[in-house]
Amino acid sequence: MQNIHGKNIYTDFDAAKYPSDPSGWGSDSPAFAKVFAEFNPRFVIEVGTWKGGSALTMANLLDGKPGATILCIDTWLGAIEFWEDQNDPARFKSLNCLHGFPQVYYTFLANVCHANAQEIIVPFPLHSASAALWLMRQGIQADAIYIDASHEEDDVYQDLLDYSQVVKKGSILFGDDWLWLGVQNAVKRFAGEQKLPITHIDDKWVIRS
Ligand SMILES: C[S@@+](CC[C@H](N)C(=O)[O-])C[C@H]1O[C@@H](n2cnc3c(N)ncnc32)[C@H](O)[C@@H]1O
Repeated sequence: MQNIHGKNIYTDFDAAKYPSDPSGWGSDSPAFAKVFAEFNPRFVIEVGTWKGGSALTMANLLDGKPGATILCIDTWLGAIEFWEDQNDPARFKSLNCLHGFPQVYYTFLANVCHANAQEIIVPFPLHSASAALWLMRQGIQADAIYIDASHEEDDVYQDLLDYSQVVKKGSILFGDDWLWLGVQNAVKRFAGEQKLPITHIDDKWVIRS
């Protein structure tokens, strides 16, 4: 928190103005518990957080571990599919634009406060590529990285290339939406090039680095 923001960003935030709404996609999957039981991470990076549903599932699993941290990287501006149907209640409408600019970050922040997870969850509101570069320059590496940002093949592939450099050796990259063709192609391309096996838990893919 100090490294990125220079202060505690939850101080003075009025979460009561926002109802709890951690809705997402595959956010409370039992796959998280299975992955955490096997790899026992303490410092997790999430790339693609939205309202915090999956981050809160992981925060629950880390609760009580000393130094447990989830660094949530997201622009909070939505992925391309969030801007393709202005009537989609789960995507465009949930961006909650004010004068054309998304406010969903505050819904996320309030969800973290309602769940009392401020000690564990640190938001980093930056594009995934820039955030990866920041982490590399700081020499920071995670025990596990969950990738669920853009679902376009080249974007996912780039996230895999970038975040494979900020995960500790022997740790894992995992992510959502194996059935999404862009995701599947990117994961297969990356894993094939790196000669790493892909395993699956439900709709999640897992690569041990
Ligand atoms: C599918 S949602 C994440 C859902 C969340 N993991 C959950 O389970 O509730 C994708 C999120 O990724 C973010 N996103 C998409 N591309 C991004 C990028 N290149 N860098 C940072 N955030 C990105 C969007 O703003 C959006 O909030």
